[in-house]
Amino acid sequence: MRDTTEWYRSFGEVEVRGQSAIYEEWALSIAEDSKLIGVIERLPLQKRQPNLIFAVSRLLGAPEGGYPAFREWLLANWSAVADEAMVRMTQTNEPRRCASLLPALALLPGPLALLEVGASAGLCLYPDRYSYHYDGREPLHPLTGPSSVVLDCATTGPVPIPLTLPEIVWRAGIDLRPLDVHSAEDMLWLETLVWPEQEERRLRLLAAIGIAREDPPLLVEGDATTALAELTKEAPADATLVVVASGVLVYLAFDERMRFVDTVRALDTDWISLEGVGGLPSVGAALPDGDVPGGRFVLALNERPLAYTGPHGQSLDWL
Ligand SMILES: C[S@@+](CC[C@H](N)C(=O)[O-])C[C@H]1O[C@@H](n2cnc3c(N)ncnc32)[C@H](O)[C@@H]1O
Repeated sequence: MRDTTEWYRSFGEVEVRGQSAIYEEWALSIAEDSKLIGVIERLPLQKRQPNLIFAVSRLLGAPEGGYPAFREWLLANWSAVADEAMVRMTQTNEPRRCASLLPALALLPGPLALLEVGASAGLCLYPDRYSYHYDGREPLHPLTGPSSVVLDCATTGPVPIPLTLPEIVWRAGIDLRPLDVHSAEDMLWLETLVWPEQEERRLRLLAAIGIAREDPPLLVEGDATTALAELTKEAPADATLVVVASGVLVYLAFDERMRFVDTVRALDTDWISLEGVGGLPSVGAALPDGDVPGGRFVLALNERPLAYTGPHGQSLDWL
């Protein structure tokens, strides 16, 4: 069972360090605060997740500042935070992950039909509608011209960056709880999941929501494994169907994750995973030897690792 103190410490030291000073202070302070750890441990394991507790607290009005004021607020409002955490999941939808997905999508013959499991609001289903800026290279734009969403990505290695964006003729997603881009409540939750101080990321999210609103994706409520085969039947036969799993498999218990892998393998599709380094045993086993800096994701096509990436699409190190 995951140790709560260690979870908060590693969230502070690995995930948010350098990205959100407020979350770093909250997480590291909680890791030293046995009273708060005891309170948090009244929740079931999955619900103790630092990112969930912090986002729910901010949604309910926690002060976004130093730890003493946050601690006081959290203790005073714990029962509301606990109730809200029980009905929510972290559903962070990060369009910048398309900067990681794009080179893998470009390896497949188009046109493409995209099916994302764990799609949240579906913002990663629009890789053809965003502009890309890989290092100092010429920006890459949709056919219609520069997008209001510009994804910056730092690269190393021979990343096969395409000259044009893929043609996507069908896009669909599955989620246990799809978020609706037209629902103000759903979008407030997505916005709150962006860490404090990340103004650029928040603005990018809002711009991507605007793009999705113009042409909302088909999102089906269901489980990644059990709903997958049925939805693939709706994809057009004359397009390359590609299943995408990005930042979702970590939410599946190990045996569920293995069932998901078996299900995708049984389908006649390509599949791209963008998951934490320990997310998929077959991908992990194919990685080169050597230390991987904490918090990295691995981009893989049909379980063959292609690159390490920043967890939010900010970097791409081709293998
Ligand atoms: C962290 S979000 C990632 C969203 C998106 N893939 C991205 O990369 O921006 C994970 C999503 O997976 C969904 N999810 C978790 N477990 C799931 C399951 N068993 N089946 C379908 N969706 C699931 C959650 O509801 C959430 O919306």
